[in-house]
Amino acid sequence: MKPATLGPVRVIAVCNRKGGAGKTTTSVNLAAELAALGWRVLLVDLDSQGHCAVGLGVKVKIGEPTVHDIFTNPQARLIDAVRETVFANLALAPADQLFEHGSGLRDERRLACALADDEIATRFDVVILDTPPSLDFLLFNALSAANWVLIPYVPHPLSFEGVRQLMRVLFKVMSNLNPGLKVLGFLPMTAAEHIRQHRSVTSEVSRQFGAHRVLNGIRNDIRLAEAFGAGKPVRYYASSSRGAQDFATLAASLAPLLGVRRDDTAQID
Ligand SMILES: Nc1ncnc2c1ncn2[C@@H]1O[C@H](COP(=O)(O)OP(=O)(O)O)[C@@H](O)[C@H]1O
Ligand SMILES: [Mg+2]
Repeated sequence: MKPATLGPVRVIAVCNRKGGAGKTTTSVNLAAELAALGWRVLLVDLDSQGHCAVGLGVKVKIGEPTVHDIFTNPQARLIDAVRETVFANLALAPADQLFEHGSGLRDERRLACALADDEIATRFDVVILDTPPSLDFLLFNALSAANWVLIPYVPHPLSFEGVRQLMRVLFKVMSNLNPGLKVLGFLPMTAAEHIRQHRSVTSEVSRQFGAHRVLNGIRNDIRLAEAFGAGKPVRYYASSSRGAQDFATLAASLAPLLGVRRDDTAQID
């Protein structure tokens, strides 16, 4: 099958087959940090639990457009589900809480096609895809549409197995649906260097997948959970917290990989 022709929009899928690995926390806060750096960011919530909307304080009423419409209606456009948030440069395509995982069109390339829309390309620089923990066609859609995959994990032995399973899926997608897919990094969540078990799981991830791919972790910080409850990215809830610092560091370290922002290009020209 022909690979996606990805436009200048950079697409990052945040994936891990385990629930509670920090996918949504990472998606919401990385999106907010990149937006604060000046990127125009679209956060797409593929998990019908709809937690991204909660984390951004957005209320989605039943019947309002969602990203899941593209999987049930071949004519639906993703842009119709996009809504601005109160946070600068940050828009959301919310999830349909009534979407049944496993239902809908059986097209693994549906999201890639929906993202190739001109209006998405003109309005956004970066798209972040928060994904459900299930191994279903939504995950394949995310991996087919992405340039990069970012894998948050809680460093305990069971989660290492989850990472390994996800890597098997990634290799499969790389070898047919999306040969251009790259690993942006593994992100230890609630990383505590002093806990021996955490260290040993992270060194195992480094050994199997490359030390250069293991990013600086996000420390354990109750503020991250509180910020979520308050409907704000942590940088707007507790700007000097550990969580806010760690996500700012993460965004700064990933920004160069994303390339030059379009408004930077305009300045250079
Ligand atoms: N670094 C962290 N410190 C403290 N709590 C965290 C941290 N990362 C995630 N959490 C909490 O762990 C729970 C699961 O995180 P979440 O991002 O929803 O995982 P997932 O989307 O993978 O299911 C949430 O309650 C979240 O607030
Ligand atoms: Mg989640």
